Amino acid sequence: MQQYDVAVIGGGIVGLGIAWQVKCSGRKVLLIDPEPAGGATYAAAGMLAPVTEFHYQEQALQELMLAAWRLWPEFVGSLPGDVGYRRSGTVLLGADPADRALLADLVAAQSLAGLPVQSLDSTALGELEPMLSPQLRVSGYFAQADHQVDPRRLAAVLLTGLEVRRVGATAVRSGIVDLDDGGQIRAAEVIVANGLAARSLPGVPVDLPLRAVYGDILRLEVPEQLQPLLRHTLRAMVRGNPVYLIPRPDGSVVIGATQREDGRPGASAGGVYQLLRDAQTVLPAVAELTLSEVTARARPGTPDNAPLLGRVAEGLIIATGFYRHGVLLTPIAAEICCELLAGRADPRWAQFAPGRFAAAPSDRTQEIR
Ligand code: GLY
Repeated sequence: MQQYDVAVIGGGIVGLGIAWQVKCSGRKVLLIDPEPAGGATYAAAGMLAPVTEFHYQEQALQELMLAAWRLWPEFVGSLPGDVGYRRSGTVLLGADPADRALLADLVAAQSLAGLPVQSLDSTALGELEPMLSPQLRVSGYFAQADHQVDPRRLAAVLLTGLEVRRVGATAVRSGIVDLDDGGQIRAAEVIVANGLAARSLPGVPVDLPLRAVYGDILRLEVPEQLQPLLRHTLRAMVRGNPVYLIPRPDGSVVIGATQREDGRPGASAGGVYQLLRDAQTVLPAVAELTLSEVTARARPGTPDNAPLLGRVAEGLIIATGFYRHGVLLTPIAAEICCELLAGRADPRWAQFAPGRFAAAPSDRTQEIR
């Protein structure tokens, strides 16, 4: 049986980032996943957005997001390839007065938390994004701190340096991972980072109250004559529906993302319609683009939208439930796991202990398989 210092189950962006950093710390590490980067990572937009992804009542999560955000420049600098890291900031606006009022309340909450958000008048909006619909150039905000990375590039760069076993894990038990090809891996430490699948992995000694929050997301090609379509990530509230548009360095654009808990893994026609309709309301030129990809994947949601991250037994660490924030939180998840492997635990992150919902019955009624 092969022996490793660390086996990481799950090759989504979080598992990849953890495995990468564990390897950089000098340990012998194996990543176990039948299709690395094929789940939520394949869909992910890659917004590094501690400001515009802040939601009410999520102060604890925000502290983790800010800690992760601070790690990004060094994390990117440590990687042996271009991962599409761009620090061009995010424009935020609402389509009608109700949307603008909602955003104003949210921005006030963000400012209370000490996050920098600059108000924009109609002239400033038009200067930042000349292709914006003239009707929507009323007022908005600019979050300089909200950046982006290309999750597919990032996954590819992380994967090149790792030893990978392309099989599924069927159980974990005292330093052994059973594999679905009949093989076994022995590792001093096992890190379970396989998203939603973690909830049903035999051998995990705590209930992981994960639920599937599906997202539809689109990729579009921008014709030469419309370049640059956008200069910044654009987030809008359009009659109560959030939509984001992210310009990629290759000239394409990503439009996302719905949030569905309807148990339907395939792309939703209604979801695609809503995204295109709302994106076109904000940026009429969207109608001129070529739709090149429609993807749907499940985000691993938790009852408080924060991850399940920490040690649950000797030799067993859990890192899942990253919900909308897997990409942003990857460097901090990796750092926390490396600290745990070294026998240290930062008390700030105890609040994300995977067993924190054990006292209350988990809300399985919301769970859709
Ligand atoms: N992180 C953005 C999303 O989940 O849609």
